[in-house]
Amino acid sequence: MTAPQPLIAGNWKMNGLGASVEEARAVAAGIGESRARVAICPPAILIHRLAQALAGTAVLVGGQDHHWDDAGAFTGDVSAEMLADAGASLAILGHSERRAGYRETDADVSAKVGAALRAGLEPIVCVGETLEQRKAGEALAVVTGQVRGSLPADLAGKAFSVAYEPVWAIGTGLTPTTPEIEEVHRAIRATLVEMFGEAGKSAPILYGGSVKPSNAAEILHADEVGGALVGGASLKAEDFLAIIRAV
Ligand code: 13P
Repeated sequence: MTAPQPLIAGNWKMNGLGASVEEARAVAAGIGESRARVAICPPAILIHRLAQALAGTAVLVGGQDHHWDDAGAFTGDVSAEMLADAGASLAILGHSERRAGYRETDADVSAKVGAALRAGLEPIVCVGETLEQRKAGEALAVVTGQVRGSLPADLAGKAFSVAYEPVWAIGTGLTPTTPEIEEVHRAIRATLVEMFGEAGKSAPILYGGSVKPSNAAEILHADEVGGALVGGASLKAEDFLAIIRAV
């Protein structure tokens, strides 16, 4: 069994305007030979422009969220098929900022994963505990529970990844220790194998939360870390490239 190909994905969150396309171009221009697959997930409105600018390069484009239905009367929402039509090939789903800010449940996330698969998008499914949950010794139970609840059975045999993003590490500059990351990633792997058998071994498990050039190498070389989901440090090509080079 060869290790899954690493994935480094940038989550721009609600940042970026038309001029940011140049930053994405700089990533594509600087990437060189990389062992990793690389994706940038900009706000939905920039997907088409980034997809055009990055066509023919090694950088993939992804969405950050989409609705669980394929179409209909959902004012303000976008569907998975719309993201795919605009040029996305992946979608981040179940990010803690959506779970906390928009009350998304595991069942909602699971339904969104189903919609992603129907549209041909590769889901990146986010899980992660809060600081209170970690302090209470509940991190592993919370994270594996989210994995069980957020990944539908129809993922079997499909390309997807799971991103472990401790809520308390996002945008704070704090990160778990390497052994703490490894403990959670091994638990996620065991859960994936329980759920999907042999196929559960091939999904990369990304780490996310304050990944930056200075800590990327240590995190990316930890056991069962198959890449990174990068927020703030993905907004500057120079920093994002340094993280990609640390794979
Ligand atoms: P930061 O890298 O800014 O901590 O954000 C992580 C994240 O939420 C990526 O999805």
